[in-house]
Amino acid sequence: MNVKDALKKMTLFEKTQLCSGLNSWQTKSFQRIGIKSIFLSDGPHGLRKMKDPDDSGIEGSEPATCFPTPSALASSWNDELIHSVGVSIAKEAVHYGVDVLLGPGVNIKRTPLCGRNFEYYSEDPYLSSEMAINFIRGVQEMGVGTSLKHFACNNQEYHRMSMSAQIDEKTLFETYLYAFRRIIKKASPWTVMCSYNRINGIYSSENVFLLKEILRESWNYNGTIISDWGAVWDRVKSIEATLDLEMPGPSPVNDKKIIEEIESGELKKETLDFSVENILNLIEKTKNFKPNEKVDFEKNHELAVKAAVESIVLLKNENGILPLNRAEIGSIGIIGSFAEKPRIQGLGSSRVNPTHLRAPVDCIKEYLNDETKVYYSKGYADEDIVDENLIDEALEIAGKTDFVLIFAGLPEYIESEGYDRNDLELPRSHSYLIEKVCEANSNSIVVLNNGSAITGKEWIDSTPGLIEGWLAGQGFGEAITKILFGDENPSGKLSETFPVKLEDTPAFLNYPGENDEVFYGEGNFVGYKYYDKKKIKPLFPFGYGMSYSKFRYENCNLDKTVLRKGEKISVEITVKNESEIAGKEIIQVYLKPVNSKYNLPEKSLGAYSKLFIEADESKRALIEIDYDSFEHYDTAMKKWVIYPGEYEILIGSSSRDIKFIERITVFSDIDKKDLINKFSILKEWLEIPDYREVLDEFFDRFIGIDNVEDYLNGLENEFRRMVLEMPLKTVFSMLIKDVPAEEMIDKLLIEVKSNGKT
Ligand code: BGC
Repeated sequence: MNVKDALKKMTLFEKTQLCSGLNSWQTKSFQRIGIKSIFLSDGPHGLRKMKDPDDSGIEGSEPATCFPTPSALASSWNDELIHSVGVSIAKEAVHYGVDVLLGPGVNIKRTPLCGRNFEYYSEDPYLSSEMAINFIRGVQEMGVGTSLKHFACNNQEYHRMSMSAQIDEKTLFETYLYAFRRIIKKASPWTVMCSYNRINGIYSSENVFLLKEILRESWNYNGTIISDWGAVWDRVKSIEATLDLEMPGPSPVNDKKIIEEIESGELKKETLDFSVENILNLIEKTKNFKPNEKVDFEKNHELAVKAAVESIVLLKNENGILPLNRAEIGSIGIIGSFAEKPRIQGLGSSRVNPTHLRAPVDCIKEYLNDETKVYYSKGYADEDIVDENLIDEALEIAGKTDFVLIFAGLPEYIESEGYDRNDLELPRSHSYLIEKVCEANSNSIVVLNNGSAITGKEWIDSTPGLIEGWLAGQGFGEAITKILFGDENPSGKLSETFPVKLEDTPAFLNYPGENDEVFYGEGNFVGYKYYDKKKIKPLFPFGYGMSYSKFRYENCNLDKTVLRKGEKISVEITVKNESEIAGKEIIQVYLKPVNSKYNLPEKSLGAYSKLFIEADESKRALIEIDYDSFEHYDTAMKKWVIYPGEYEILIGSSSRDIKFIERITVFSDIDKKDLINKFSILKEWLEIPDYREVLDEFFDRFIGIDNVEDYLNGLENEFRRMVLEMPLKTVFSMLIKDVPAEEMIDKLLIEVKSNGKT
């Protein structure tokens, strides 16, 4: 199809028809013009292709591989792995005739209470963007499109369809748009999906600033913007904001409105054509698509197991209780119905119908010797009531076994798309069970299934072994068995902070908002950046995770001490595996501004690397940090800049376990002109040598004092300090009486900005 020709041939009616879906999942076809229909389906951790395209429900999709959900996958910190997951999901999409996959979601985890956090990667924008870039590349390399979602600021499920995220410009850019911007630049997703909520009062679906000015004009995005399902409020406004495709369809009322507005001249024909062309371009991208290709579902299941292994995080391992040695276990208790029916994914639109599902209890039984006695009990009821009979049964098992494995976590009634959590605790039926069983048997290990951070003191203190099993997909049963018994070495690290208590969390004072407005009062201090700044000790910090291996960091080198535009810094470090078990270590590099006058986080993740190291061997990691990683959004200059100054490069094994600190000087890309405006104080003028010179000359010419220093020397100490903090205009108005100070400043600004001295 030639897009330009097709556009010319279409009638106004056909154009509006194309701009809304055919049904829940497809676009409309126009045989007369050779425009085919394309199929869109969820989602981020597996395919949810509905058997019936008119079915807008959640259950009833074709069998597909259910990979770990994004919060789990991001805990693998493994770029290659997430790329392969993308490839595999895309192969299944091709098999089922799906052209565009509705994912990934890169909303930032502002509060751990957000019920949909399992569908998002991280609290950190850099980690989120790296994960999504690799995922999108994997999917799109197979000829399947992606939909980067939910653009933007959908950070809670409470009132998600009406809530306005009230957010300042700096926070919007640096925290909530950062990943989107980077992904658009590096991975070019075929589509972007707008979010349901409002941003500073305006729905994302009709937000001209967000969609048109930022996404299209500033980031040059020329893909297709689609609505989240049902996110369009005013179709005419949304098309003006360049939202191309309204989903689901059909939407005859809205199509008609567009026609009326065009006919009355209120809406420009070109505005509609722009969107039609974007949709046609999307359809054209799918032209080499060959549905029904065979898929090796077995191979994809193996990858799901591998992905689960890499995502699982070992949180606690007192006295090396793990891994368990099957040769030494006479009897083992398995308690908790999650061992029988694990939570492998979240509830909502990302729900996949798995191709395989093996219960952990079955996998463990199969793994153990026939002589090992295995006892299973449900442990807790399906609803949150402590069932004393089940507790008694569990205690009886705990009393007669060598080891106990307790499978617990968050049930679906607590965590889902569409609603938020009330607190960060486990249901009492789970935490009480853990406390009691651990009291009865000190060799009790807890395995969790939950999609986002949890907390709890007593039950965590009571167990010597704790594993974050996340919502790890259909490979969970096999993966957790391998990890528990040491066939695999845990290597995941938390992609989000686990706080001690809800009151410690960044958005605590500003969540969930009222009257449909939520203030992002914590600004950029989200996740570890908040805990760092407030010096709050988390329960388990961002980037934390244990291994059965023991790693030592040695010989850290940076290839430079001064960084300039266009350059990169290379960090080299040796990691020694001082154990007899081969394992993987995730080395994290954080950037810390030193004595900055800007309100910046203590540190931000700048790079990472996951290394496999054989037992008793060392490996040298080479990690590169881009100049851009030092960027910040400056609200006065209205652009991304690098503030000049000293930075520390922190190299560590978690955000709170820094092994090496190196220092570098970063040269700014800011034009000096941009550092000065009419509000600048005298001190700021003097900090720039060229400007100091011009100012000296000005003092001489108009005030009759040789230079600024002479003037300042004539002042009393405290007054001198006060004057240095005054805007130059105020200083001028004290010293020059015959010309208005404003005029002097304008003159000076023209002079410094045009005389080439900058
Ligand atoms: C979700 C999207 C999803 C869409 C289609 C919406 O409710 O927010 O993430 O892609 O449904 O299922």
